[in-house]
Amino acid sequence: MSRILVTGGAGFIGSHVADAYIAAGHEVVVVDNLSTGARANVPAAATFHEADICGEALAEVFAAERPKVVNHLAAQIDVRKSLQDPQFDARTNILGSINLLEACVKHGVRKFLFASTGGAIYGEPKTLPASEDTPAAPLCHYGVSKYCVEQYIRLYHALYGLPYTILRFPNVYGPRQSPHGEAGVCSILVGKMLRGETPVLYGHGAPLRDYVYVGDIARAAVLALDRGDGEILNLGSGRGVSVRELFDILREFTGFTGEPALEPLRPGEVDRIYTTGDRASAVLGWVPEMNLREGLRRTAEHIRAHG
Ligand SMILES: NC(=O)c1ccc[n+]([C@@H]2O[C@H](COP(=O)([O-])OP(=O)(O)OC[C@H]3O[C@@H](n4cnc5c(N)ncnc54)[C@H](O)[C@@H]3O)[C@@H](O)[C@H]2O)c1
Repeated sequence: MSRILVTGGAGFIGSHVADAYIAAGHEVVVVDNLSTGARANVPAAATFHEADICGEALAEVFAAERPKVVNHLAAQIDVRKSLQDPQFDARTNILGSINLLEACVKHGVRKFLFASTGGAIYGEPKTLPASEDTPAAPLCHYGVSKYCVEQYIRLYHALYGLPYTILRFPNVYGPRQSPHGEAGVCSILVGKMLRGETPVLYGHGAPLRDYVYVGDIARAAVLALDRGDGEILNLGSGRGVSVRELFDILREFTGFTGEPALEPLRPGEVDRIYTTGDRASAVLGWVPEMNLREGLRRTAEHIRAHG
């Protein structure tokens, strides 16, 4: 049993990760500034600190809680916001992560897990699915800030021996992803369909993405507590699914009968990206298990019930 600090544990993925750690018998401490997350997402069994990862309060949390493991999910996650306000993106994602890494070294944290991105780090790779050997070539500030943090993590390992595993997430979907935000196409489409609004398919519905259910991601976060030291692992399904295909499945689960608006891709968005999870399979013994249709059905049901 470990005491695990989950940054961003009031958010979509972080709250599922916190649930999974508690279910596996660990103690969980959540740090979140509630900028996009919600207090209600934090599991009742977790200790909650409303704090910014960029601020001095983080040091007080470490001194009080003395976590053995840190899973760092708090971030500015919106690609378009990263283009509009690159300094905010860098402050949260880069400076916040450095603040956290410093605290980890000072308090002798035994394992650092990081939520990186497989969707925004490779740009438009020539060969798909992208593997961890595909060169990083981000095409948005968010992808650059995530890649930069990966380099800092490797540096803290080289300088101070901080053990780490970097998990590069694909397009994660599932219950608790906000249908009102700018990130998370599945929830945004469901929200629009249920409200009877016209969903917009950017890239005219053609872009390919890798959709992995949040429960599968949380399972990988549990497996990576004991495995994958020093590794960068894509948590991909290896399968590209078009936004149009996604729309058609969600139409069934929402009863939406209208047509979508088709618009070009927006700046910073890539056309085709999906990754292979083969290395995660070999290292963690992880494969995504949730069938896409069933996962989308659950997502639609959750939004119907909770908004
Ligand atoms: N959702 C995806 O498909 C996806 C894909 C790749 C990577 N990721 C990464 O996974 C992580 C979680 O993403 P999510 O989709 O759950 O987003 P989310 O917005 O639901 O969660 C992020 C959480 O971080 C908190 N936060 C933001 N800035 C903070 C700060 N300065 N201090 C403290 N807390 C702060 C927010 O309040 C929120 O609860 C992020 O690091 C994101 O980059 C997500």
